[in-house]
Amino acid sequence: MTTIRKCLFPAAGYGTRFLPATKSMPKEMLPVVDKPLIQYGVEEAMEAGMCNIGIVTGRGKRALADHFDVSYELEHQISGSSKEGLLKDIRRILDGCTFSYTRQSEMKGLGHAILTGESLVGNEPFGVVLADDLCVGEGDGVLTQMARIYQKYRCCVVAIEEVPHDEVEKYGVIAGSELEDGVYVVSDMVEKPQPDDAPSNLAIIGRYILTPDIFDVIRNTPPGRNGEIQITDALQIQAERNMVLAYRFKGRRFDCGSVHGFVEATNYFYERWKETQD
Ligand code: G1P
Repeated sequence: MTTIRKCLFPAAGYGTRFLPATKSMPKEMLPVVDKPLIQYGVEEAMEAGMCNIGIVTGRGKRALADHFDVSYELEHQISGSSKEGLLKDIRRILDGCTFSYTRQSEMKGLGHAILTGESLVGNEPFGVVLADDLCVGEGDGVLTQMARIYQKYRCCVVAIEEVPHDEVEKYGVIAGSELEDGVYVVSDMVEKPQPDDAPSNLAIIGRYILTPDIFDVIRNTPPGRNGEIQITDALQIQAERNMVLAYRFKGRRFDCGSVHGFVEATNYFYERWKETQD
């Protein structure tokens, strides 16, 4: 079984919805309880065997690279104290993963961000995580569930969930026919449609498994919604040529790109954190 080794994290966005908190701090570093958002995503990728992490960064995002590195001074300071255990998770990540970075110098959309990551990915299938979407899998993590679908069908897979009909305009939305329980062959895909134009209420959430031929497709995808190059549009083209699957994942997603979802995630992880304190 060939595993997917690489996972791309587009992380160049400004995080304007969280200003002023994100004025000088990357939004991916906002902590949910005691862990920055992006670390949850990296742990999910690592669980799925995707241990080569590629981060597409931008200006003002240096804290991300510092987070995924050893901090000798800090480790020396807390060595032998009760606080040492607090760095256990991040140390496990540093031992198990590699990190590569590239910069997206202009914000031209998610498709463009993914294309910017091409040099980090090369010619192999890869995962994509939007760290804003914090996922808690039921049993296995969401990327692990998706990797299983990829192994079976060898094509692009997007994660979806049902959303209320009046919220479809926040998402890429798919239409498709069910191939097996929770797996759909995509026939249509629209980025942020008006509710009346939406093909369904099955919304794409920030987890993708992509095959490397997507890079050429993105290169030829014209700007779409908001004048940006959308991965949704590229995948729609891909769906017309090859099979693209949408997978209704098992678990829960928090939209940490919104204050509401962020607080919900905080409450959820606070309950889990409390259990570890006994
Ligand atoms: C992006 C994608 C969209 C997807 C969403 C999931 O939008 O363009 O298709 O549904 O992520 O979070 P964004 O939230 O970056 O505007």
